[in-house]
Amino acid sequence: MRIQVARSSMPDFAEYCQEIQGLWDSHWLTNNGEKALALEAALQAYLDIPHAVLFSNGHLALEAAIRAMGITGEVITTPFTFASTTHALVRCGVTPVFADVRPDTLTLDAGAIEALITERTTAIVPVHVYGNFCEVDAIRRIAEKHHLKVLYDAAHAFGATHEGSSAAAYGDAAMFSFHATKVFHTIEGGAVTCASEALAEALRLERNYGITGPESTVSVGGNAKMNEFQAAMGLCNLRHLDEELAKRRRVCAIYRERLAGVAGIRLLPMPQTGNHAYLPVLFEGGQATRDEAFARLAAQDIYPRKYFYPLTSAFACYAGRFDPAQTPIALQASESVLTLPLYAGLADADVHRVCDILLAQEG
Ligand SMILES: Cc1ncc(COP(=O)(O)O)c(C=O)c1O
Repeated sequence: MRIQVARSSMPDFAEYCQEIQGLWDSHWLTNNGEKALALEAALQAYLDIPHAVLFSNGHLALEAAIRAMGITGEVITTPFTFASTTHALVRCGVTPVFADVRPDTLTLDAGAIEALITERTTAIVPVHVYGNFCEVDAIRRIAEKHHLKVLYDAAHAFGATHEGSSAAAYGDAAMFSFHATKVFHTIEGGAVTCASEALAEALRLERNYGITGPESTVSVGGNAKMNEFQAAMGLCNLRHLDEELAKRRRVCAIYRERLAGVAGIRLLPMPQTGNHAYLPVLFEGGQATRDEAFARLAAQDIYPRKYFYPLTSAFACYAGRFDPAQTPIALQASESVLTLPLYAGLADADVHRVCDILLAQEG
């Protein structure tokens, strides 16, 4: 049977049906519906943050945050990320300036930020890659010193904590993705969290055309509202989050037991307070070894992802605009990484099978 890198967790059919039943009475399917409001409240409590503004997906949440925060000019960010982070900046008319990543966590290297700050820099947009936290204290200090905003791409980080706090606690705002393959999902969906009421209001305007009342439109917002069916899925999945995290932790433990210390393979540190969102493996033999492992798994109908390859700075759509060689650690990571199949329902035997195939190659 085919094994993909991810498989969406789903609540029992009956539980979801019960959650959406009331919609057949209310006929209220979107626009601040009961389910969306309940999910916002639940997420605010879970993440311990005053505002969680829901969006139809994480990417539009990120674009809305960039606009609502007034981020312009240049932004220091990482190329070792999903297309969304870089595309969101570029689509909002902002110039990404790429700093390299740390070799141990593959998150933005705080030590590389200051040298890239110019008078056009307005913000830092780091990514909690694979759910591993960035150097949040160092980034805050740099931002304060240079009067920069910090917007975290926390797409991967729901369910993880750092020194007892969720990813919502760091930066001026954080964006979470609730895409179907995430640890917690709303089919498609996302949220921006923040402490500032003014920013939350600006985000709500971005989400709904800048409309403040039946006869009042105050800004040129778009449409990125989460609908009630998405929010209902979120309410169900939130109830099962602990179970989801425990199952993922178990899968990761088997992988780590089998792969830790194997010559030619490097695992990233995985804190117990992490969310076990991804299982990245770096092949010290580089791209050829990585691609050979990928092909060997694919031949057995097992599909890991080269996540993140290529760097966003190497995308065809940005040809001639950025130089991937300027972030050598990120470049090397992108050429040597595979993220292995990881989801709550992945059977122990299948995890062992993936490891057997990888170890046969390495041996
Ligand atoms: C790092 C990162 N940022 C942003 C996004 C965009 O989120 P979405 O897929 O919900 O639009 C993703 C999606 O997986 C992501 O991995």
